[in-house]
Amino acid sequence: MRTHIRHARSVIPSLEQDQASSAIRDVLLTVPELEMASSIAAYVSVGNEPGTRSLLFALWKRGSYVLLPVVRPDGELDWASYEGPDSLREGPYGLLEPTEPVRGVDAIKATDVVLVPALAVDRHGRRLGRGGGFYDRALARVGPAILTVGVVYDAEFLEEVPAEPHDVPVRAVATPSGFHRLGTGPGNVGAVP
Ligand SMILES: Nc1ncnc2c1ncn2[C@@H]1O[C@H](COP(=O)(O)OP(=O)(O)OP(=O)(O)O)[C@@H](O)[C@H]1O
Ligand SMILES: [Mg+2]
Repeated sequence: MRTHIRHARSVIPSLEQDQASSAIRDVLLTVPELEMASSIAAYVSVGNEPGTRSLLFALWKRGSYVLLPVVRPDGELDWASYEGPDSLREGPYGLLEPTEPVRGVDAIKATDVVLVPALAVDRHGRRLGRGGGFYDRALARVGPAILTVGVVYDAEFLEEVPAEPHDVPVRAVATPSGFHRLGTGPGNVGAVP
């Protein structure tokens, strides 16, 4: 499934990718929890992912405190604040990382909303990630009051995504066509604390 979705992403025309990124930005900027949030954990998109750069800029400009992940050698995600487009530098895995001091792996616990990269999300919130388990480890720290949002293209919001016990589901999904809150039905896999 990862191979299939990565391929599908690689053939999205760049104009379409830009339009999808703008649409997701506009969708997320009007979600009440994001409007109210004082602190948001987000990420800098890479490659063919739905773009997050203009979303990050808009959130920061309107005064949210935006945290971005910093990959630690032990596979945990640390967090540091985004202070505008000039506060990023190249990190491992071809990712852009924040230049600000890191705040520790538990900084994610003090956020109101976590935006989560994904290749696919299903209607139960099961999430197919990028394959490293980084977000599953980070989301295992997050309590029920925090809104976790998978960010995908429309075609990646699926009926069914395979999941294992360590997979932590997301509570909502944002696509170019809208924002959907997801039920945590009996089929839900993973630790919702
Ligand atoms: N909480 C955890 N503790 C230890 N190992 C974990 C944990 N979560 C995931 N892993 C390990 O990480 C590896 C990758 O997990 P998985 O295939 O779910 O990645 P993913 O969800 O696609 O990645 P990501 O979360 O970074 O987007 C697996 O071998 C899994 O066992
Ligand atoms: Mg996973």
